[in-house]
Amino acid sequence: MIEPLDPMAFKKIVFFTGAGMSAESGVHTFRGAGGIWSQYRWQEYACQQAFERDPQKVLDFHELRRKEALRCQPHAGHRVITDLQQRHSAVFVITQNIDGMHQRAGNKQVIELHGSLWRVRCRIHGVRLDMAETYTHRRCPDCGQWLRPDIVWFEDMLDEEEVQAAQYELGTCDLFISIGTSAVVWPAAGYPLIARNNGALCIEINPEPSENCELYHRTIRGKAGEVLPRLFAAAL
Ligand code: OAD
Repeated sequence: MIEPLDPMAFKKIVFFTGAGMSAESGVHTFRGAGGIWSQYRWQEYACQQAFERDPQKVLDFHELRRKEALRCQPHAGHRVITDLQQRHSAVFVITQNIDGMHQRAGNKQVIELHGSLWRVRCRIHGVRLDMAETYTHRRCPDCGQWLRPDIVWFEDMLDEEEVQAAQYELGTCDLFISIGTSAVVWPAAGYPLIARNNGALCIEINPEPSENCELYHRTIRGKAGEVLPRLFAAAL
């Protein structure tokens, strides 16, 4: 039994998502059985040193991630967020996901903490969009440098603007709903505490216990695509 929520009872709602949000779309999670990091060593595919050693290998890996994402479609849980955003002016998404699934579902006001599979950047000429299944350019057309996926890899710093934007929404929301994150990666793992300390009601949706599940007022053990429509059934 899932007790439904009235979104209009809250001034600002933040959905905070991890790989589990995309799992029912068919995108692999990172940890757990079948997770990406059980098949690939991040040291070889997801850090700046790996890119400098072998850019083609790292780009091939990310191209596979693109192909996988394009085969997948947003699910009912993503659509709940789109519907809520049409009814409520202050619904934000802070995501650790790089797959762009929120945007494909029509979600707006999405803060991408870990960057995006669909952007590349040149050290000299900056960030450019590249939405194709295979990279349009692997080297910068202006200077010939390798183009790096615009993703926050292991050992990278987060983008300060995204972090500031996330902190602001966390500090001003009164409903915080975390969906599908194992909460092992910082600073994201600390986000429920920030929201809670600022007075937000904190709810977790995850079929498995996460690292910080004790921080939530309410934990719903279930899948995003099934729980979200039921949680907001009364409003939509
Ligand atoms: P993980 O793969 O660590 O965790 C996925 C979580 O989703 C687990 O807690 C699962 O129990 C849960 N889950 C699985 N299916 C679900 C479903 N249908 N509905 C809801 N939850 C479900 O992924 P993250 O916590 O997102 O970094 O990982 C954080 C970061 O570590 C990622 O952003 C990635 C990775 O290294 C980058 O790509 C930069």
